[in-house]
Amino acid sequence: MTHWEDFYNTHLPPADFEDNRSLLKEFCERHNKLQNRIVLVTSGGTTVPLEHNTVRFVDNFSAGTRGSASAEYFLDHDYAVIFMHRHKSLEPFTRHFTGQQFFDMLDIADIADGQSSTIAIKPDSVDVFAPVLAKYKIARETQMILYVSFTSVVDYMWLLRAACECLAAFEERAVLYLAAAVSDFYIPEDMMVMRMLNYLSSIVSLQPTHKMQSGDGAPTISLQLVPKMLAPLASLWVPLAYVVSFKLETDENLLIVKARDSLNKYKHKLVIANVLQTRKHRVVFVTPTDSYEVHLSREQAHQGLEIEEPIVADVVQKHSEFILSAQQRQ
Ligand code: PMT
Repeated sequence: MTHWEDFYNTHLPPADFEDNRSLLKEFCERHNKLQNRIVLVTSGGTTVPLEHNTVRFVDNFSAGTRGSASAEYFLDHDYAVIFMHRHKSLEPFTRHFTGQQFFDMLDIADIADGQSSTIAIKPDSVDVFAPVLAKYKIARETQMILYVSFTSVVDYMWLLRAACECLAAFEERAVLYLAAAVSDFYIPEDMMVMRMLNYLSSIVSLQPTHKMQSGDGAPTISLQLVPKMLAPLASLWVPLAYVVSFKLETDENLLIVKARDSLNKYKHKLVIANVLQTRKHRVVFVTPTDSYEVHLSREQAHQGLEIEEPIVADVVQKHSEFILSAQQRQ
């Protein structure tokens, strides 16, 4: 596996990196002066490009539901939110009206002069739209949310470190809520081909070996391990922050074991473990001392309750206790 420092030494930052870094710096400085609590929510999946001039890539599964919904609930708890998301994945507020849903809520009417039209929300959609719009406006006007986006795993890693550099000043007041689905494998820059691979077969084999070949027949695309950034993040970049990672499994039997392994290895505060098929109504909170389930009943789910609401409420409560115990130690 590449060491995390080598990863940054061998991969250039994305083109918009300096702009994002300035935005992060300004946002964090302002909220730190106000002594606000802050959360970095990562959301959506990272890509692994197969070529320099990327046409094809490997993707990590995540629609961005967990992250975008959680960001809204953190705002409800008065946290300043850095929403670091995959470009074009779900975002807070707009997530409620995806696809043609938004257009279906609108009415178009001609004005009497016959030259122009007005557009209005249909009366029966106002009750749905108005509360979301109101919350969005407040979050934007009070500058409580900052949106920054990534696409590839390299973009993600650069942004993550830049955000941590700014968050360190918050000490215990910062929460890192790492819900993005981050690639464990990638093709290092120096092993990528320049142009689109000439795929002669639809079969692509992904093997974590060490070299990429393209020639006649099915290409072998070899992937390397991405360093686990949770390691420097928890121990060096934001050692005082409340760090929460997510663990996605497809096998229920491995859920707690893997979550505990992660806590033991990275020594952060909490792992929220979920199984792919049940993630929308059940998660398991795993701390160094215990584990318990947070779930929605069938009825609650039916009523439109989102599991992110109790998840965030629980994280906020744990964060408050964490701050209190840090203050008592001083
Ligand atoms: O967006 P949705 O469709 O609602 O889906 C939400 C979700 C299922 C994606 C989310 O709830 C979730 O489980 N996210 C984490 C998925 C994941 O990538 O798990 P992992 O086992 O690859 O990584 C575990 C932790 O290690 C993550 O917090 C990640 O930030 C971190 N990591 C991962 C890879 C890497 N190279 N370095 C890391 O630090």
